[in-house]
Amino acid sequence: MTLWLYGLIPHLKAFHIVTLAVWCAGLFALPLMLARHEPAIGPADYSRIRRASHYSYTFVVTPAAVLAIASGTALVFLREVFVPWMFAKLVFVAFLVIFHAWLGHVLVTVAETEGRHTPPEPTAPMLILLAPVVVILALVLGKPDLGQIPMPDWLSQPQGRQLPFDVPRR
Ligand code: HEM
Repeated sequence: MTLWLYGLIPHLKAFHIVTLAVWCAGLFALPLMLARHEPAIGPADYSRIRRASHYSYTFVVTPAAVLAIASGTALVFLREVFVPWMFAKLVFVAFLVIFHAWLGHVLVTVAETEGRHTPPEPTAPMLILLAPVVVILALVLGKPDLGQIPMPDWLSQPQGRQLPFDVPRR
């Protein structure tokens, strides 16, 4: 790989960490904000919290998620980390993406759908979210050797089968 691309790695990693920090902070903050979507707080406060949660989700947390995933994907190729701990990390990142989508669904239901909707209690969602975040950090910072974990043959050996579509050849 050309040298200047390697020079990008520290900057891209810093960018990755900033964006994922914003993403994760938003995933923890939004359940707390959603819990305040309670008509009893009065129309002015309700409208303020509704607008704050909507704009945070749309203009801060979702773009941060996209940028964290894009910069992480670029880092996979630049650092050539095609190793088991990285694939395990991606499984847990998928949980964050599911949590993100669930928050969007709750936001629309609670704040933008007619009728009375009770926001979910924030404690359980935040504890559930903590699990994948801690596991991701442990995997990425500890970089454990997961190569010893037994895998079925069909996952670890070439099967020599044809792909169901044609692959362009160089
Ligand atoms: C699709 C999403 C993601 C991908 C593809 C990805 C990929 C990567 C890659 C390739 C690195 C560089 C690893 C190295 O230099 O050895 C990295 C670093 C890092 N990632 Fe991610 N990442 C993603 C999401 C996340 C998330 C959600 C978190 C935290 C909750 C996270 C936390 C970190 C941290 C703390 C580092 C710095 C680790 C170090 O340099 O020792 N990443 N990521």
